[in-house]
Amino acid sequence: MSEPKRKFVKVIKSEGIAWTYLNRPEKKNAMSPGLHLEMRDTLDELEADPETKVVVIAGIGGVFSAGQDLKEYFRDLENNPAEAKRIRLISNGWQWDRLYMFNKPTIAMVEGYCVGGAFTHLLATDFAITAEDTAFSLSEVNWGILPGGMVSKAFADAVLYRHALYHACLGDAFDGKEAARIGIVNFAVPKEQLKDEVTKLAKKLMTKSPAALRATKQVIRQVRQMDFGQAADYMQEKRMAISVGDPEQSYNTGLHQFLDEKTYKPVHSPFALKDAKKGVAGPPSKVKAKAKAKAKAKAGK
Ligand code: COA
Repeated sequence: MSEPKRKFVKVIKSEGIAWTYLNRPEKKNAMSPGLHLEMRDTLDELEADPETKVVVIAGIGGVFSAGQDLKEYFRDLENNPAEAKRIRLISNGWQWDRLYMFNKPTIAMVEGYCVGGAFTHLLATDFAITAEDTAFSLSEVNWGILPGGMVSKAFADAVLYRHALYHACLGDAFDGKEAARIGIVNFAVPKEQLKDEVTKLAKKLMTKSPAALRATKQVIRQVRQMDFGQAADYMQEKRMAISVGDPEQSYNTGLHQFLDEKTYKPVHSPFALKDAKKGVAGPPSKVKAKAKAKAKAKAGK
């Protein structure tokens, strides 16, 4: 399938990972209306693309994003409230709504700058890994506005109350280690290791059942808004939903490989996916060998 033409977004597909880069390097990947429109379409395409198993959101040229474009997103739309609203909804749409419940795992690969509006898609992805020297800043207060769009809500929900007030009210830049400490990324690594760490995580995610993973991440997100009764009911329904149209038949396959075949231990590895059985990945051979030896011993009894 030929790739759609994109100007502000660059997608590189490799081994199941769609590396999706905001692509306005001359503006530090600040997000313009044109970029928002392309990101909306790109996420739609990637969610439906069978070749894509994991989506990584990053910025070209070693910069995650300098946030909303202060000229094209703010000043140029000032006197056109209808268009401003249309673009704001598209921005909130891909940066939050789409990513929040995306059907495939998503990872933010963060380096250079992560500013203002970029916190929205940072916090909507399932995982985030940053370079230690990234400069994070809720800079809005420094240029006379509040962290709008979805930023204040997403940030206040993600971190402790004191951290939220401190960073939103001061706007000071902080580094990747601090971002990990307050929990807006999973971890910070030296810049030269960033891509390898993201690749490692993406590959690990690809060894899991896509249906189980999708249901799990969506449940974790949704139950935060529910009381216990609602959550228990929702989780039960989602559990049932995993089995509908799941080509892996994850539940039964997982149980069968553990209880009958004895080929893996869930504590140490996921069950072998169909592709894995063809040799892409699988449970450690140690487990298989042990299972064989056990079966032999039993047969000898
Ligand atoms: N909106 C519009 N343009 C932006 C931008 C933004 N958010 N961030 C950077 N740019 C532009 C700069 O104006 C500059 O354009 P020019 O070459 O036409 O002058 C270009 O990108 C390069 O940025 P520059 O400021 O020269 O790079 P720097 O390395 O010295 O500083 C930043 C980088 C990110 C520290 C600085 O650009 C900055 O503070 N940007 C504002 C970020 C912000 O507050 N975003 C919040 C939006 S919600």
